Amino acid sequence: MVPIFGKYAKYYDIVNQSYFNWTNKSFLNFFDLIFSRMKSKPRNILILACGTGRFGIPLAKKGFNVTCLDISQEMLNVLKEKKEKEKIEIKIVQGDMTNFSLDEKFDIILCMYNSVYELDEEGLKKILTRVYNHLNEDGIFIFDVEDFSKRKFQKVWADKEELTWIRFYEKDNIRIQRTIYEVMDKEKMNFKWDSFMIIDDSGEIKTVLTRDKFHLLSFEEWKKLLKSNKFTKIECYSNRDSKTKFKEGDQFLTFVVWK
Ligand SMILES: C[S@@+](CC[C@H](N)C(=O)[O-])C[C@H]1O[C@@H](n2cnc3c(N)ncnc32)[C@H](O)[C@@H]1O
Repeated sequence: MVPIFGKYAKYYDIVNQSYFNWTNKSFLNFFDLIFSRMKSKPRNILILACGTGRFGIPLAKKGFNVTCLDISQEMLNVLKEKKEKEKIEIKIVQGDMTNFSLDEKFDIILCMYNSVYELDEEGLKKILTRVYNHLNEDGIFIFDVEDFSKRKFQKVWADKEELTWIRFYEKDNIRIQRTIYEVMDKEKMNFKWDSFMIIDDSGEIKTVLTRDKFHLLSFEEWKKLLKSNKFTKIECYSNRDSKTKFKEGDQFLTFVVWK
């Protein structure tokens, strides 16, 4: 399996930088507030689908024992480089979040940025079993999903709800033009997106096409799935704000699930 993220791992941080600038700080504050509600101060954190270390790096810097797991060796290579540059300790594991088996348990398990959408129904059941088994008593699983159906799709000419957007990114000697085409089937709650990048990496021109599709679950479906996998205390917040409980119609959901 060649995970799509491996195709542009070197450029992942560049194309996501504005999203990270917008959300990283509020997520880290969110984590602090949630962690402060735990019976004892959390120490060990496992980050599933960790990517290039968006949360692994800052949480390790805060003093947590961090283990980062991802299926893509290319994404992990970027994380390894950053970790070495920053001279911080992070345990890096290449593996599949649906069937990992580690010889320790964790106070916190994270799986961020719609990464659970990478899994089908079977995969979701498997990850929840793995997460449950790897959490300490009173441990917490946190994941976030966007309800893509809340994006402002258009239905011009075409018979489907679609959206195209183009962005330019520039960092050091790298320039990227990225076109994203999204289609939403609101009846079946299926979301499909194509990304096409033209990359000028110091004069070397590359193109990267990735395709992905997700089946979106409603809040009630998430709750049902979590409950059928032994999780009983389920909280859901809106927009990375630990004071605002999710309400129907919100676009960004952050689940906090207690063992
Ligand atoms: C949208 S990125 C999110 C990365 C990171 N969580 C972040 O917030 O930047 C999705 C990540 O999931 C990883 N991934 C996809 N399927 C996976 C699987 N079955 N097991 C582990 N990682 C997986 C990809 O390699 C990629 O790094």
